[in-house]
Amino acid sequence: MSEIAELGTLTSEEVVSITRANNFGTWRIQKTWKPLHVVDAESCYFIDAAGKRYLDFSAQLMCVNLGHKNPRVVEAIAEQARELPYVAPGYATTARAKLSQKLLEVLPEGLEKFFFATSGTEANEAAFKIARMYTGKTKIISRYRSYHGSTTSSISSTGDPRRWAMEPSGKAPGHVFAPETNCYKCPIGHTYPSCNIACADYIEHMIRNESDVAAVIVEPIVGTNGVLVPPKEYMPRLKAICERHGVLMIADEVMTGWGRTGKWFCVDNWGVKPDILVTAKGITSAYVPLGLCATTKAIADYFEENYFAHGHTYEAHPMTTGPAVATIEEMQRLGLVERAASLAPYVQAKLEVLKDKHPSVGDVRGMGLFWAVELVKNRDTKEPFNTMRDKVEGKPLVVDQVADGDGCGAAGLGEPLCDCSAANCY
Ligand SMILES: Cc1ncc(COP(=O)(O)O)c(C=O)c1O
Repeated sequence: MSEIAELGTLTSEEVVSITRANNFGTWRIQKTWKPLHVVDAESCYFIDAAGKRYLDFSAQLMCVNLGHKNPRVVEAIAEQARELPYVAPGYATTARAKLSQKLLEVLPEGLEKFFFATSGTEANEAAFKIARMYTGKTKIISRYRSYHGSTTSSISSTGDPRRWAMEPSGKAPGHVFAPETNCYKCPIGHTYPSCNIACADYIEHMIRNESDVAAVIVEPIVGTNGVLVPPKEYMPRLKAICERHGVLMIADEVMTGWGRTGKWFCVDNWGVKPDILVTAKGITSAYVPLGLCATTKAIADYFEENYFAHGHTYEAHPMTTGPAVATIEEMQRLGLVERAASLAPYVQAKLEVLKDKHPSVGDVRGMGLFWAVELVKNRDTKEPFNTMRDKVEGKPLVVDQVADGDGCGAAGLGEPLCDCSAANCY
């Protein structure tokens, strides 16, 4: 029997056991990994090998923004494979030029030079290098409740516990942390609006005292660390602080981009124009791996006379740029950004009802179709069910029981809240 025929006859149990035995499960202690064998996905559902259909409430890792198997994007992948599956990044391609034109239509005004990577992580690495080359400065300020990627610089600027395993030996120098904006549980003990946005002003204090700051990177709404929505003054204030000190603002829109918050990009909610915008995920609805680092003309112009010291074999890979054009066209045809905005009041009302009903729901917050339900043991003290350390130590988490849909009773939450697949939620 040929190897292909043998692979064709794998049982579902074999698929799971080979995956378990020969692959790493990401961000977890390995021995508890029991990957579900997924065989199909269509629209907002995915289907396991036993034929069970799941509502994909989180669009996988908040990335399948168009839903699964959009026919036009699937066709664009096939077409690109037939036309030109690969050529080195030094060449011009039609797909790359068309994507550049499309991006100029949807990105915040002023972002007009593009570096195409293959993930959000790589796009952030590009952003840090570009910021350091352009400013001639070193330090990058990010915030504790943040995730910016998994490779050396991007994990070093990640504030959450996924960084801990890399400290101190594997952490790149030059990354410093500011307090996050969290109006539900302010890390510096203030209350909005009497705080007068002290968390933004503290970043100015840091810039003055750190010196040598190249950039401040923020998720405009913090994603995987709890959908932390800043007050409306925060992003404009932060941008003004950056401008005052010649520090670049990098907006990490890997998760918040592509309509999720009811605008094409989250910064559009406050009219803020970052110096660099990084995105990935929804840019191709995650069908193919593409990341984008977009800069202003001022940054672009600097490299007309200075060496651009960055690149990858897969930069501007035609198999990613072609399908990205189809993805953006589909989002425009279906009016998905406007739809996310129009559905926000419905989602908010439903979640407010959930909050009234369940004492374990401390807060519900979000924008567009990007929402979080914060679970607490005690509404007055806002004590969480689990700590961040529980997660890295592999302890059973209440949030996982809720996501599994069968553990809510054990967690004292009454009925299941959802059956989402938010595998990297805290
Ligand atoms: C805000 C943010 N930045 C960066 C990343 C890293 O992107 P990727 O997983 O594509 O490398 C993520 C991933 O979830 C993210 O949410």
